Amino acid sequence: MPLDGRTVVVGVSGGIACYKACELVRLLVGAGARVRAVMTAAAQRFVTPLTFQTLAGQPVATDTFDLTQESEIGHIRLADEADAVAIAPATANVIAKLAAGIADDLLTTVLLATRAPLVLAPAMNVHMWEHPTVQENVARLVARGARVVGPASGSLACGYEGTGRLASPEDVVEEIRHVLTPQDLAGERVLVSAGATQEPIDPVRYLSNRSSGKMGFAVARVARRRGADVTLVVGTTALTPPAGVHTVQVTTGEEMARAVQAAAASATVVVMAAAVADYRPRHPSEHKVKKSARPAALELEPNPDILRRLATRKGRRVLIGFAAETEHVVREARRKLAEKRLDLIVGNDVTAPGAAFGGDTNVVHLIDAAGEEQALPLLSKEEVADRILDWVVAHRSAATRRPTLRRVR
Ligand code: CTP
Repeated sequence: MPLDGRTVVVGVSGGIACYKACELVRLLVGAGARVRAVMTAAAQRFVTPLTFQTLAGQPVATDTFDLTQESEIGHIRLADEADAVAIAPATANVIAKLAAGIADDLLTTVLLATRAPLVLAPAMNVHMWEHPTVQENVARLVARGARVVGPASGSLACGYEGTGRLASPEDVVEEIRHVLTPQDLAGERVLVSAGATQEPIDPVRYLSNRSSGKMGFAVARVARRRGADVTLVVGTTALTPPAGVHTVQVTTGEEMARAVQAAAASATVVVMAAAVADYRPRHPSEHKVKKSARPAALELEPNPDILRRLATRKGRRVLIGFAAETEHVVREARRKLAEKRLDLIVGNDVTAPGAAFGGDTNVVHLIDAAGEEQALPLLSKEEVADRILDWVVAHRSAATRRPTLRRVR
């Protein structure tokens, strides 16, 4: 996991969004990172160093010229031991100083001294954010390799509406994971489908299924983290779209078929994790069906099989499907792999412990077109996503060599 045991220096500069940086530190620590907070003098007017020290379980650095801090922490040591540096919130002031190479306090000194990748999470008034100087400074930092996350839009603490809110702590963590992850999917355009479809019976009722969308979202998030350009076609789900992913919202199986077909034209990898309804009501009612109508049966017609259609004009595109089963997982997965002419299928028994709909873990079998099979242990859905994408990387690099799944006869 990219954050486990890694040292992340979190630079906190002075803005009201400082309080959200506390949550950022908590999330990073929870994900296994060692966090060193560095606070500017202005930041300490909003939140005390004790808060960050308590959350990080590490001393907080505030002053270049404090003899105790310099001997115990040392600004060069801080800069050297950082695997990644994130500034959250990054004010217009700290962005300007960094762009100009000014190092007049501990944070800006560490920023000049470090070789670690930099994540900037700006937060400021909308007019400040839109000011040409700020935009130019941000562009300079991006050109030098900094990653910028946010700012988000919404109501700002200064009373304005607009762009300037600190990105969510979850999105900042994701950007830090991104800069710590080898970009082995750079150049791939990955299309992922996720969630359930809804097939209307009438304006208030529909047919659907229990898919939460979590597995597909994990694939989209991890693919983007590993450098892919990701499009996510989403049916019904309660999840927030992952940052940095192009998301297309759909409702019915037909809409999903159209959206996937359109995006597949430029995709190099397609991962169909969505639970598409196989059938839809043939004559959805324009008005609510009344109890008094006593409908005896619901007439159904088939939805398009999206994966099967994609296989007809496949080219070099890698096609990956899922088979969520309640019995004969491997047999069924092999059948679907062959019938839909897939490169890889991910089979799972949704009744197995840790593999239920809506959970954060999964227990899957990976089976590829060469007949290689791998039974994975109980893993988080992100870990499963990583294993699927490892297979893609191995498949790509194996122009002459087979991917390395164990053959099971
Ligand atoms: N799939 C699809 N279009 C459909 C139905 C399924 O593209 N109309 C995809 C799913 O996203 C999944 C794979 O096909 O990746 C297998 O889906 P599944 O529902 O398990 O299989 P079915 O083909 O519906 O077969 P069965 O009903 O016999 O289980």
